[in-house]
Amino acid sequence: MSLTPVERAAHYATRSSRFAKAGPKHLAYFKSVLDQPCSVTQRKGKMLTEKAATAPYNIDWMSQIQGDTPAVLLPTCTKQVSAILRYCQEEKLAVVPQGGNTGLVYGAEPVFDELVLSTQLMSAPPVVSKDTMSVEAEAGVILQQCQEACAKAGMLFPLTMGSKGSAMIGGTVSTNAGGIHFARYGSMHANVLGLEVVTAKGDVLNMMSTLRKDNAGYDLKHLFIGSEGTLGVVTRSAIRLYQQPRSKQTAMFRLSNFESVLALYHLAQEHLAECLSAFEVMDGESLTTSPANQVPYKRTDKNDAFRAGSDFTAAYFCVLVETNGSSETHDFEKLSEFVESAQTRLGDQLSGGGAYEPILSQSAAQTAQLWELREGVPVHLASSGRIYKYDVSFPIDKFYCIVEHTREIVYKKHKVNPAEVLVVGYGHFGDGNVHLNVIDLTRSHAAELDAALYPGVYEFCAAHGGSISAEHGVGMQKRDYVHLSRTPETIRLMQDVKRMMDPNGILNPYKVLPLDT
Ligand code: MLT
Ligand code: ZN
Repeated sequence: MSLTPVERAAHYATRSSRFAKAGPKHLAYFKSVLDQPCSVTQRKGKMLTEKAATAPYNIDWMSQIQGDTPAVLLPTCTKQVSAILRYCQEEKLAVVPQGGNTGLVYGAEPVFDELVLSTQLMSAPPVVSKDTMSVEAEAGVILQQCQEACAKAGMLFPLTMGSKGSAMIGGTVSTNAGGIHFARYGSMHANVLGLEVVTAKGDVLNMMSTLRKDNAGYDLKHLFIGSEGTLGVVTRSAIRLYQQPRSKQTAMFRLSNFESVLALYHLAQEHLAECLSAFEVMDGESLTTSPANQVPYKRTDKNDAFRAGSDFTAAYFCVLVETNGSSETHDFEKLSEFVESAQTRLGDQLSGGGAYEPILSQSAAQTAQLWELREGVPVHLASSGRIYKYDVSFPIDKFYCIVEHTREIVYKKHKVNPAEVLVVGYGHFGDGNVHLNVIDLTRSHAAELDAALYPGVYEFCAAHGGSISAEHGVGMQKRDYVHLSRTPETIRLMQDVKRMMDPNGILNPYKVLPLDT
């Protein structure tokens, strides 16, 4: 059934009667709080209530879920966040924290009439310390701006991803965002050194620190990292930095089957070892909606027609390999040796009989072009039709099985015409993190696809040692499948923690945890 974004929101939950409706007295209170200038920047907060102004905050990036917030609150300081949340807890007003609104699991938008608390105006310039190798940033700082401030000081911010131009630091911490350098630099859990959070009761927890080691009791900051705004609102964080690599090298390969992708990854481990910073995989089908001039390898080869075959494997795979190191000459030599070895070991699976030589980037512009191809994939896919997105993880040797399995179910069992629905896979191979996307190009297959994909995809993950959420979180989209990746005892404890920290359940309701019955 094809639903509107409002209907889809209602499909996931029913508005809870325990929440009050925000009325004039509440809005007057919020205005009085936001009108108090921040003691540091002297900036006042803002409140938006006009429909046209609140519209972008009401809908998710994929335009699949739409709420109807009575007001978007834009504080400029932690004190205002604290006053707002304390009041909302007392008055039983539901609130959704929101950063750049780039999430993909319906976790940062209102479902009904929750208030939106946007961290957008908490965006003082990040403070970079070369001495402590850390950066301190407010929640509303855009990821790319933070990266640039760090790069200016010769330091590398550990996280990067396609949505860096809109995603905000607070959101990346709250969702434990992953991205393309995860395998090299680790998660936000590994890199957040200190945190300031406002709890659902309005208390300010100052856990700011740049210490690497600190075993003084429970490390509570980890409760907030990845809890997707259900326990508190991240207002500031201190994040670990790395030396900006002196040399960055990139290469792209085209391979004819998944076995050779796995073999190439092991070769990369052998040859590039500590330098390897990204190993991104895109199947040929995921590139079919990218502009033709961006795709370096031709798509018209006879092998491209996977749909004609019966094994549902990909037409081909593109692999983007990046190294970060300390010496240009040394790193280039290493990469060249790796390419040579791949040519010898993988032979025709790599070069397609000489037709698809690996590309070793020769300039910053070429590197940018190769990354543009990878980062553009989700954007071009999403604009080609109605999209179903799955962010799942598997042991790396099973990385691609979910894509082949889904093709079989969609094309064979449900007899959907492959010309009208794309089933593609791309992702962060080193993390075993595959992004399975199904695109209904004609927007006419909702019934078959809903039946084919739910709950089949997640059940397949559970049955094959995978996780239903690799890096995008749970939000509302995967809430009812959490039991496939967490035991009943674990879920019960999560619910107990939520009840204890947020007695009225006002913070980001209907998300992450199965609904109380
Ligand atoms: C990516 O790796 O491109 C992002 O996680 C977004 C997506 O999954 O589409
Ligand atoms: Zn990703």
